[in-house]
Amino acid sequence: MENQTESKRRRVILFPLPFQGHINPMLQLANLLYSKGFSITILHTNFNAPKTSNYPNFTFRFILDNDPHDQRISNLPSHGMAAFNRLFVFNEHGAYELRHELELLLASEQVSCIITDALWHFTQSVADSLNLPRLVLRTSSLFCFLAYASFPLFDHLGYLNLADKTRLEEQVEGFPVLKVKDIVKLGFKSSTDPIGQMLGNMVKQTKASSGIIWNSFKELEEPELETVIRDIPAPSFLIPFPKHFTASSSSLLDQDRTFFPWLDQQPPNSVLYVSFGSTTEVDEKDFLEIAHGLVDSKQSFLWVVRPGFVKGSTWVEPLPDGLVGERGRIVKWAPQQEVLAHEAVGAFWTHSGWNSTFESICEGVAMIFSPFMGDQAFNARYMTDVSKVGVYLGTVWEREEISNAVRRVMVDEEGEWIRENARVLKQKADVSLMKGGSSYESLESLVAYISSL
Ligand code: UDX
Repeated sequence: MENQTESKRRRVILFPLPFQGHINPMLQLANLLYSKGFSITILHTNFNAPKTSNYPNFTFRFILDNDPHDQRISNLPSHGMAAFNRLFVFNEHGAYELRHELELLLASEQVSCIITDALWHFTQSVADSLNLPRLVLRTSSLFCFLAYASFPLFDHLGYLNLADKTRLEEQVEGFPVLKVKDIVKLGFKSSTDPIGQMLGNMVKQTKASSGIIWNSFKELEEPELETVIRDIPAPSFLIPFPKHFTASSSSLLDQDRTFFPWLDQQPPNSVLYVSFGSTTEVDEKDFLEIAHGLVDSKQSFLWVVRPGFVKGSTWVEPLPDGLVGERGRIVKWAPQQEVLAHEAVGAFWTHSGWNSTFESICEGVAMIFSPFMGDQAFNARYMTDVSKVGVYLGTVWEREEISNAVRRVMVDEEGEWIRENARVLKQKADVSLMKGGSSYESLESLVAYISSL
């Protein structure tokens, strides 16, 4: 009891990266820590701020972009890939303001630690200068982290700037799960170019942190966990966030729910859910191939087309009238995890973002993988070849390939064992949450660890 009272007084400061795929897991973690008795302060940019009214028990402090005259950020676009340039600007210039904000918070009450997104690498030296323990939330898989940590090696082996395109299907030396094309898909040419440097700093300052929290579970990535424990002194905590809270309350877009009466009427496992996350874009031609592929598969589908997904269009204007027909529903944004948990959903065609992939695993839903960029190719490769819970389609948008992939997972015999693998993995996640299970113990250790700081 005394411990609980003690932990109730303790405050944890969380600092997410201001993008949907990073805000969601950080706020799921915040909900989890709050449920364990900690007080919560969220540091956030005004850009992409979540709805604070959804979190009446948390304190929000807005930092880094309060000055409308700061031209380093006021000129940055809010949408598209250029929005990510905020990462470079804040990592380079954010230290002074963060230190000031933390000094104010530390002067007013007892703070156990700060937990920042791993990509906020500038926060480690600020936390060190204040003697404040910094834990890291790494929002992708352990496998992806180890691949990023190997970039200097990949660079040395010539994979990042590959001229010989005949080598794309080769296995990566020292990293046999990956194919060379997975690394090439990252799209940068050297471990010292700006993105390579940022990822290098992310790896370095994650290793220097006081602890790493992963949105994963031990049974999913056991060999990778062994490597992480061997190579990184800071303790690791693997917690499957979607098993505790959905990400709905931190959605930046309004979630459409009007399709649920239709979904409720569909037979079990008969609907393909399609969504490509919060940042991807395609050309109109590719969008139309996707639409034709879905229709040609003759399967029912629920397709999230985010406004801005089709370059040059507001929403789905390029679709010819009547193409989608009765089998398909298109929405702008959905309560994704609720959809994945619905018994009518038989498979998920995803861009392989880690949250989407992991939410699907937590709900036992098989996948089709079309990675666009970054960690997505690594997630897709691991899930296809190691976990074996889906098929790898890629982003060659051709209607016949698409409809074949959909039928492989939804209808063909092959799909049966892929779906069975997905069900088994979900069961492992469920078991890991039971008293004495790996995820249960990991959460308990995290709470004890933070309380001890
Ligand atoms: C990005 C990267 O793409 C991803 O690879 C990285 O791991 C995190 O940052 P994003 O592209 O948005 O994220 O993909 P993802 O990680 O899958 O996150 C999307 C989130 O949006 C998920 O939590 C999902 O549930 C949510 N979502 C998606 C909705 O709430 N509604 C939708 O209709 C679609």
